[in-house]
Amino acid sequence: ISRKSFPNGFVFGTASSAYQYEGAVKEGGRGPSVWDKFAHTFGRITDSSNADVAEDQYHRYQEDIGLMKNVGVDAYRFSISWSRIFPNGTGQVNQAGVDYYNNLIDSLLANGIEPYVTIFHWDTPQALEDRYKSWLSPRIIVDFGIYAKTLYEKFGDRVKYWITVNEPHVVTIQGYDFGIFAPGRCSILHHLFCKAGNSATEPYIVAHHLILAHATAAKIYKKKYQKKQGGWIGATFDVIWYEPLTNKTEDIEAAQRALDFHLGWFLDPLMFGDYPRSMRERVGKRLPKFCKAEKALMKGSLDFVGINHYTTYYAWDDNTHLVETLFKDVLSDSGVITLPFDSNGKPIGERANSIWLYVVPRGMRELMKYIKHKYGNPPVIITENGMDDSNDPLKPIGEALKDDKRIRYHSDYLQHLAIAINEDGCNVKGYFAWSLLDNWEWVAGYTSRFGLYYVDYTDNLKRYPKNSLNDINRTTFPQGFVFGT
Ligand code: GCO
Repeated sequence: ISRKSFPNGFVFGTASSAYQYEGAVKEGGRGPSVWDKFAHTFGRITDSSNADVAEDQYHRYQEDIGLMKNVGVDAYRFSISWSRIFPNGTGQVNQAGVDYYNNLIDSLLANGIEPYVTIFHWDTPQALEDRYKSWLSPRIIVDFGIYAKTLYEKFGDRVKYWITVNEPHVVTIQGYDFGIFAPGRCSILHHLFCKAGNSATEPYIVAHHLILAHATAAKIYKKKYQKKQGGWIGATFDVIWYEPLTNKTEDIEAAQRALDFHLGWFLDPLMFGDYPRSMRERVGKRLPKFCKAEKALMKGSLDFVGINHYTTYYAWDDNTHLVETLFKDVLSDSGVITLPFDSNGKPIGERANSIWLYVVPRGMRELMKYIKHKYGNPPVIITENGMDDSNDPLKPIGEALKDDKRIRYHSDYLQHLAIAINEDGCNVKGYFAWSLLDNWEWVAGYTSRFGLYYVDYTDNLKRYPKNSLNDINRTTFPQGFVFGT
């Protein structure tokens, strides 16, 4: 697999997010976010770590841009920390925050790397959580709109690719149903950890506000900035590919429902103006409705569809209603059980370090075909794809750099992506590997390593190229490109 397998102009990059990379959480006037509070809460993070320092990209962005040049990327996807721009969530703009991102953007461009900017990658200002429970209140739609508009004004002369929200499904499910991500809300029954929340209603409210926040930010861009600045705006959705466990009709329908409750929940309203039918039928009155004006707002709000795809699961119909008898939540509403194992306990693919991540490259092609057919072949950008190794403190660095599994992962997923483009005619425009560096993983902290570069947490965060980096080097540079030192 090489660049030649992809159409001209296809974009290769790496992805990151502010909280997982920047560190410097108390510097440059940054205000706290819900993730600062969550990570500092006892018992929330596997290794009791937080991202106060993380990869320290806030201070080392120039060095990191040098590393990106070594990879030969066309683009770098990063997110802006809302509370660096508005420490209080809204109100006064923090100039030091604006300066930091100006420097980052300018340095990227000076090095020929295109910035792809995520406006919201989960780090909601804590001030908005305290003031009105952030995503549970429609007030956040207005504040998000003001925040987005500020970014277009400050950076839109140079930023041509905007991603409004990252993985609204994860925010919704992990934050308000399972309660294992910030702000950690869910029903007491569902997770003994959680002290607040209602998993039967809150996820649907939060999702609704995330969708409308995206649509509002996109509308502001399209109305006032797009023509002048000439950029594109989209959002990024996480999605697992679901394979029916058997070829029984119930299971085929269940796999379809799993996709509805995962991707369709967000993409159907934005593409077709309403939630998937299966959701309307099953969730009933608990599912909020879109009024006419909101439908108009959502229409045409995506210039491209960002997709974060890592893994594939089996899906089958929950005809025992097992989940339903235990909990009232999104899972029980969907009536689907999804797992990375078949009924004999055989895994669907090789497991990475994360317990949720199984390597199933064929899922990439199937997912692209599904999006093409269901949504009319919109431009798609793979905004994340990758796998992690464990952080084994006893392993010598030299050993940790031999990440053959990651080489196979990227090359196999890219292979299936190339087939989806070249043989199935899917309209895919770019691919971002997660991630340039090992980084702070939500909940798993520093126990997980997703990087093409190894970061030595015991020695001043030094970065070392892993074997996968050299491999990506070879695949992304044109054939015959000469490397030397
Ligand atoms: C996201 C992702 C990343 C994760 C990555 C590995 O929200 O875009 O969750 O932040 O670190 O997916 O789990």
